[in-house]
Amino acid sequence: MSRKALIAANWKMFKTPAEAKAFVDAFLPLVAGHARDEIALFPSPVLLPTVVEAARGSNVAVGAQNIHFAEEGAYTGETSIGQLKAIGGTHTLIGHSERRQYFAETDEIVNQKLHTALKHGVVPIVCIGEVLAEREAGKTADVLKTQVIGAFAGITAEMAAPIVIAYEPVWAIGTGKTATPEMAVDAHRIIRAEVAKLLGAQVGANMRILYGGSVKADNATALIGQEEIDGALVGGASLKPDSFAAIVKY
Ligand code: PGA
Repeated sequence: MSRKALIAANWKMFKTPAEAKAFVDAFLPLVAGHARDEIALFPSPVLLPTVVEAARGSNVAVGAQNIHFAEEGAYTGETSIGQLKAIGGTHTLIGHSERRQYFAETDEIVNQKLHTALKHGVVPIVCIGEVLAEREAGKTADVLKTQVIGAFAGITAEMAAPIVIAYEPVWAIGTGKTATPEMAVDAHRIIRAEVAKLLGAQVGANMRILYGGSVKADNATALIGQEEIDGALVGGASLKPDSFAAIVKY
């Protein structure tokens, strides 16, 4: 059983439209014809039209870092799923740890956003992961299971095929500390087993689980090369075309 890897760039709150366009123009030739893995870019909302336009017709998909769960309404500062789709976005991150930490996103909100994304045919990447204190207290497995159960409330096996999970240990994000391949594989197995418990063995076996947290060109092969690891969600090292292309070609 083989799951096609997804290599995703989370640009966070970086780049202007001109810088985003320059990235795509430089990046596309570097990955032209690369069909082994799916590739997706996640820029800030104001960059989305520029990046969608620049990547049109290529092997690079574009998505949002966040969407609101409501289809429309009085939610100042937010982006709706319909707005994302209208400009050509096809994917969205959900519940990134920075959303959870700085914007108070709970598992319940993550769950609502997941339902919204699936209803509208947008590929959701649900982000989960433990903080350092939880790992040190031996609670990693419990935290991951709770996050999976919370995110997947009301999700059925029939709905689950598009869902991607990103395992991102919070202590590894932007810190230069990566989980070892063994730690990542252990966590992925726990997550996959929980998905299988909730939605059946087939859904568990098919679900793509990405690793994120200080992925760089020089550790990408060791991580993504693991059978259990179905790609990467890359922050810092995705901001330059050559370094992100090197990760895509791990
Ligand atoms: P990082 O970020 O690669 O800079 O650690 C990963 C992420 O936040 O998704």
